[in-house]
Amino acid sequence: MITSVIKTTDPTQAATQGAAILRAGELVAFPTETVYGLGADGLNGAAVDKIFLAKGRPNDNPLILHVARPQDAFALWDGEPPFARALMDTFWPGPLTLIYHKAPRIPNEVTAGLSTVAVRLPESAVARELILAAGCPIAAPSANLSGKPSPTTAEHVYADMAGKIPLIIDGGPCRYGVESTVLSLVGIPTILRPGAVTREMLAAVIGEVALAPSILQPLQKGETAASPGMKYKHYAPSAQVQVVVGEPAAAARRICELYDGLIAKGKTVRIAATAEAAPFYGSRAYALLGRRLEPISLCSGLFRLLRELDEGADVILAEGVAPQGAGLAFMNRLLRAAGFQVEYV
Ligand code: TXA
Ligand code: MG
Repeated sequence: MITSVIKTTDPTQAATQGAAILRAGELVAFPTETVYGLGADGLNGAAVDKIFLAKGRPNDNPLILHVARPQDAFALWDGEPPFARALMDTFWPGPLTLIYHKAPRIPNEVTAGLSTVAVRLPESAVARELILAAGCPIAAPSANLSGKPSPTTAEHVYADMAGKIPLIIDGGPCRYGVESTVLSLVGIPTILRPGAVTREMLAAVIGEVALAPSILQPLQKGETAASPGMKYKHYAPSAQVQVVVGEPAAAARRICELYDGLIAKGKTVRIAATAEAAPFYGSRAYALLGRRLEPISLCSGLFRLLRELDEGADVILAEGVAPQGAGLAFMNRLLRAAGFQVEYV
């Protein structure tokens, strides 16, 4: 299959072309403000199946349905989720996914057999135009091969999906560069996956919000994943990733020690640095993740670096930060990439 790439210089034209492909039951990769999505008609089970095939995604991992108008979300749930209106008013359009009991018309392929469904209304204008033009909710996971970091540019999508899908809509780099916050509204509101809409921001609107235990630690024996995606070895590069959490000077001092030791053993080592600590690395090989003062920038930096640094590095030494605000989303992705190999200094 030949994969075409079209730019969004004319978003309406891109949406019209993409919508025709979606309506024919085929896949389209499209930009959102979080990461690129790999979309199919969310009410067509056979089309949704093609997503799992293209990604090599385990078929017990459910997908998010993307809508363009709040009223379309209510049509996908069975009843009105508690807190939904306040959350939608405050955070939609934007990087927040809400999970609640599913309406009977949702195909099992979307929910992987679960009784709940995840819905989000993206901020990206291209994404919303595409959904409106298609006239159906779009089921879309991140547009990477399963196990690879989420794509934050059309080039990343092309690297993973060329030859597998007919169209990629290129909207440039994604604004946030990390997947949406996933919040379950079944029972006590619980964050299953942290993102740019932080726990603190949610709590300011609806009060106490719980965190799924597996956000910062591996699944414990006997624990079932609140979100099936959490149990897979996500974001894991072939290089070994080691995390050091601490203030810039202290973290950098420890990373320099580890770096020098590994180099002495003949290893190829790269440092994933924050801008605040970068001056401490001297002539050692580092790449910038982003700024600690703006933790969301660290997430997109991480996905980019995991794709770039993976080629040729034996070990990636990465700085970690406190899991507050958007720092929680960063640490969630980083610790998974590191297989939870972390030290605190
Ligand atoms: O920002 C995003 O959310 C991007 C863009 C494309 O919208 N999408 C995305 O989709 O990251 P995906 O499939 O890569 O991640 C969805 C996560 C998975 O961990 C999945 O297990 C979880 O949401 N999920 C989906 N439906 C669920 C459900 N009913 N119950 C629990 N977890 C669910
Ligand atoms: Mg994904």
